[in-house]
Amino acid sequence: MRRKIAIIGAGNVGTTTAQLIAERDLADVVLIDIVEGIPQGKALDIQEACPLWNSEAKVWGTNDFREIGDSDIVVVTAGLARKPGMSRDDLLQANAEIIKDIAVKIREVNPECIVIVVTNPMDAMTQITQRVSEFPPERVIGMGGVLDSSRMRTFIALETGSHPEDVRALVLGGHGDLMVPLPRFTEVKGRPITEVLDEEKIKKIVERTRNGGAEIVGLLKTGSAYYAPAASVVEMVENIFEIKDEIIPCSVFLRGEYGIDGVYTGVPVRLYAQGVKEIVELDLTEEEKKALFESSLAVKRLVEKISL
Ligand code: LAC
Repeated sequence: MRRKIAIIGAGNVGTTTAQLIAERDLADVVLIDIVEGIPQGKALDIQEACPLWNSEAKVWGTNDFREIGDSDIVVVTAGLARKPGMSRDDLLQANAEIIKDIAVKIREVNPECIVIVVTNPMDAMTQITQRVSEFPPERVIGMGGVLDSSRMRTFIALETGSHPEDVRALVLGGHGDLMVPLPRFTEVKGRPITEVLDEEKIKKIVERTRNGGAEIVGLLKTGSAYYAPAASVVEMVENIFEIKDEIIPCSVFLRGEYGIDGVYTGVPVRLYAQGVKEIVELDLTEEEKKALFESSLAVKRLVEKISL
């Protein structure tokens, strides 16, 4: 049977994700939004491109949540995006209300699916989705680390003139201002980044990675990034569909791993058809562990501010 992916929110991240999935013929796609006409129109436009991509994906739009039934994966992108000067955390209350409502609906019409949450502040929204849906945490996963790591790889590839394929980078922690880029796990053609770039350059790259989302919000002024976020969702989808089997950083519910308990935070994981297959515990230094813990604490504080 063909796979099906539901995307909630027909904004830039949602529609670009739909486009990438259809282009790669990974699944049929249903795009859902509360605004009438937009998901239908965007989906039809993507559908009409499929012959040119040699893709047999069915792509349609709807305002009716019942149509997410039978989806293997539901991607949640609905919510407000940042404006210049805002942090992801500033979106907390408004987006929490939207997410709670969506989590209830997902549970009602598709109790077996895997959920990928993109809406910011992402880690907190992922935790709310899990709580409200009462899904096993293994089936509710947040997208952040793949994006942050791709940004870091980009900056290193550009700085060193390398092919991105030769650059490995790892960003853990919450997808917020306290994210934890790990230069120690970053390399160019197998050489540690510390041997390739001087300390000052590495520091700048780490800072630019932390500010990666805000840099784009500052340029766009009327929205936030979507090409790289959508590509990051697709990377997760390909691992869930077991087309790839990679260790990738995602926001998952921790139960003591890395000394963190009861909160969603970005760590390296392996995904499979049932969601999170394995949480990979890297050997971190005390300093790295502390940074990761602090980052998880920031997520915990956000979650505590939301009444359920
Ligand atoms: C960003 C948003 C998606 O980092 O959080 O661009």
